[in-house]
Amino acid sequence: MSYSVRQLVSEIESALLNKTHSVQIIWSLGPLLQRLVLEGGDLTIQGDPRNGSSGLEGRLLYDDPRGKFKVVVSRFVPNVPTPIHSHVSWGVICGISGKERYTSWTLTDNQRNHENSNIKIISAHHIERGDIGYWYKSPNNIHRQWAEGHEPSCVAIIMGEDGSRVNIFDTPNA
Ligand SMILES: [Fe+2]
Repeated sequence: MSYSVRQLVSEIESALLNKTHSVQIIWSLGPLLQRLVLEGGDLTIQGDPRNGSSGLEGRLLYDDPRGKFKVVVSRFVPNVPTPIHSHVSWGVICGISGKERYTSWTLTDNQRNHENSNIKIISAHHIERGDIGYWYKSPNNIHRQWAEGHEPSCVAIIMGEDGSRVNIFDTPNA
């Protein structure tokens, strides 16, 4: 192991000293998380057990005591998409195993109320081992993910603030 959760956390803290949390700052976290996945050993047995939103057990690798960010491992069920949902803040994903289909959206009406909101895809791709995905602060904080194939997808995620979900979207044109 040549890179650890502790080292990642230190580098995240340095990056977030710039309080704008701009797209560029969030992008800069992607290669750090990628390095943890590739050089940090088996992340699925590190940290503490955590019940993920998908119903599959994940891991809590780090929970910032000031509530600035979390680092987790999450797993997603094959062929069962998550709801289209928004998060309280930004996030960075890196694939550990499996094949994850990842789509993110933005609000086109710039309303914070999700009722009758229009959303538009801003990225759609697959995440396999070492691949990176992002979501950003509102209104670019909406996404959906699920595993393709026969095995769950397993990903490492850095989530801004407490990482909680905010709204669920049910949009016909999604
Ligand atoms: Fe999510």
